Amino acid sequence: MRGLRHLSSGFVSNVTPSIEEKIGQGLLLQRGHPINTLKMRIQSYFGDRYSVFDSLSPHVTTQQCFDDLLVPRDHVSRSPSDTFYVNPEVCLRPHTSAHQTEFLRRGETNFIVFGDCYRRDEIDASHYPVFHQVEGVRVWKQADAGSSAEQRTAFVIEDLKHTLEGLAKEVFQSEIVLRWNEDYFPFTHPSLELEVAHEGDWLELLGCGVIRPEILENCGLQNHVGWAFGAGLERLAMRLFNIPDIRLFWSQDPRFLEQFKPDEVTKFEPYSKYPPCLKDMSFWTPESFEVNDFYAAVREVAGDLVEKVDLIDQFQHPKTLRHSHCYRITYRSMDRNLVNSEVDQLQEEVRESCSSKLGIELR
Ligand code: PHE
Repeated sequence: MRGLRHLSSGFVSNVTPSIEEKIGQGLLLQRGHPINTLKMRIQSYFGDRYSVFDSLSPHVTTQQCFDDLLVPRDHVSRSPSDTFYVNPEVCLRPHTSAHQTEFLRRGETNFIVFGDCYRRDEIDASHYPVFHQVEGVRVWKQADAGSSAEQRTAFVIEDLKHTLEGLAKEVFQSEIVLRWNEDYFPFTHPSLELEVAHEGDWLELLGCGVIRPEILENCGLQNHVGWAFGAGLERLAMRLFNIPDIRLFWSQDPRFLEQFKPDEVTKFEPYSKYPPCLKDMSFWTPESFEVNDFYAAVREVAGDLVEKVDLIDQFQHPKTLRHSHCYRITYRSMDRNLVNSEVDQLQEEVRESCSSKLGIELR
């Protein structure tokens, strides 16, 4: 793939130039940007009792990000098909949970962390390889939370639910309908997710739970209990500001940026929706094919001009047993009309780049 860098010992980083460009852009701190406005709302809800960290480097160790959080050795989130690795020990944080243990070790008992997070993923209106999360953590001495293990767990969950329902109401500042579901995370037990009713559907707001005691013990917090939560900001902001496509958060277009004022929530007025241009691409996949490598390769060539990529057909050849995939790439610019010749050229570059880098055979 373009931009792969060969490091010593044969390790190949999967951080592409278009991802590198995003590091340090600082949307969280850009006054007036919807991501900053949402951050400020969340921050004001938690108030002075919580320490706030919002400028931590996204480069974290696999120790912080996975091992300290009891993520199993074979968990998919560790795989280079899901996570961006700078070297075998350092990755771009796929979640702000990567900072939990460093602050617990430092003796922080109430804190929130905002950060840009990075994940290799599919391509559509609500998935982008860079997004933002807020993490919150609160711990108590066991003795302050109840006299039996059951009592303490119930105490922590009650505080967690109360805190997060309050957060959702503060963020949306309107009548909302919420529901709790059981969930699973390696670092919390029990684990829950909070959803909000949205346009006849349920939208996931956050994941959370009671911090596993081993994690606290490893941070020198024997005889403590606590909760943690993590929420994605884009999804909330899309709903709050009526922003239809996640790529818009990265737009430099004044027609986007100038619509928003610091600390004000206003509905986005689409300046126009330019027409999409669809191109299909079929190929035989090699044994080792990873679809996220394909998405990354498409994005490396077409950047933010690619709106989504859908698998529309696949089959296995009855004799050769080879697999064929057909993908539909939707190209659309947020800012202007794309001309056909330009998209044809892009598609040609995508095809060339994929065939030379992914070992696929174009059909
Ligand atoms: N880190 C989890 C995620 O990214 C969210 C989470 C945070 C869940 C803290 C539980 C506790 O999905």
